[in-house]
Amino acid sequence: MNNEQEKTSADSKKPYISKSLFGETPEGTANLFTLSNNNGMQVRLTNYGGIIVSIIVPDKDGNLEDVVLGFDSLDTYLNNNEPYFGAIIGRYGNRIAEGKFTLDGRQYNLAQNNGNHHLHGGIKGFDKVLWEAAEIKANDHVGVLLSYLSKDMEEGYPGNLQVKVRYLLNSENELTILYEAATDMPTLCNLTNHTYFNLAGEGIGDVLNHQLRIAADWITPVDEGLIPTGSMMPVKGTAFDFRIPKPIGEDIESMEKQMQLGGGYDHNFALGQKDSNRPLAATVYEPASGRFMEVFTEEPGIQLYTGNFLDGKHIGKRGVPYRERSGFCLETQHYPDTPNQPKFPSVILSPDEIYKTSTVYKFSVR
Ligand code: GLA
Repeated sequence: MNNEQEKTSADSKKPYISKSLFGETPEGTANLFTLSNNNGMQVRLTNYGGIIVSIIVPDKDGNLEDVVLGFDSLDTYLNNNEPYFGAIIGRYGNRIAEGKFTLDGRQYNLAQNNGNHHLHGGIKGFDKVLWEAAEIKANDHVGVLLSYLSKDMEEGYPGNLQVKVRYLLNSENELTILYEAATDMPTLCNLTNHTYFNLAGEGIGDVLNHQLRIAADWITPVDEGLIPTGSMMPVKGTAFDFRIPKPIGEDIESMEKQMQLGGGYDHNFALGQKDSNRPLAATVYEPASGRFMEVFTEEPGIQLYTGNFLDGKHIGKRGVPYRERSGFCLETQHYPDTPNQPKFPSVILSPDEIYKTSTVYKFSVR
């Protein structure tokens, strides 16, 4: 092999990226970025809402399938993304009770967009804004850097918050999400991603047979409005014990009070880890396809949501309506309603700090 050939064959093994037009939003053009690697894994995402539109991964026989819920067209996202399919969530993942909190002695009132509570950053959260996008091409990964300036008092939050989210794909079938933010006034920051997974393939049945493991001894139990009560509940002996892998469906119809309140799983698991080395938080295995997903994060919590509010009105990419349990989310995060819960790990970001956190979704087969 001469030098030129060596270079070409090495290049052909490297992840690569392409870009196409996705459509027009009221704020400008949204593009669709495709990150691909040599194993056939492909991640498509758009700078509208930072939405992950598809993730294609092989099964144990090498068959490729799209394993995340979502839509084919930008217009569908623009018109109905209240399930938050695939999107970046901010400034605050999950609920803040009555949309109220006090910071440095001042009370702030956020949009009440979920009954009388604030959910996922408000009426126009980070999932519904157009982000600036720049392609990333490195030796062992490709990606997209998304940037957004959330202005002082946007959705009621104090401070100008400059946010950067990087989506990266490497040859190890790892999708890494790096979150970064800086503010000019003390504010709240708790970012996550709201991808719904079905490792059998989106629109292919439900996720009840997926074997889930979550490295959590506790959940933060909730009230009727899905607001944490402030106490911690041990998972031992309850439907929430995923410390040893079990099918998501095994206890999903349990009559336990927390399961009734959630209509299934819609709870924050306290990972209780302070390791900055991005520990393993959860694993999911789908026995028929053999697909296996690991979730790594340094966040203290993870929201398991089993799509309990999906009611068939959203038609997915293969033309199948999404119903409850059509997908599951594992949203890495700080705990819900932290601003009103003095005992929970803090979500206050000061001007002298940089918010930095990450999540890796790694795909393989068993
Ligand atoms: C989160 C919440 C759920 C629901 C979904 C979006 O995961 O915890 O209660 O609001 O988002 O539908």
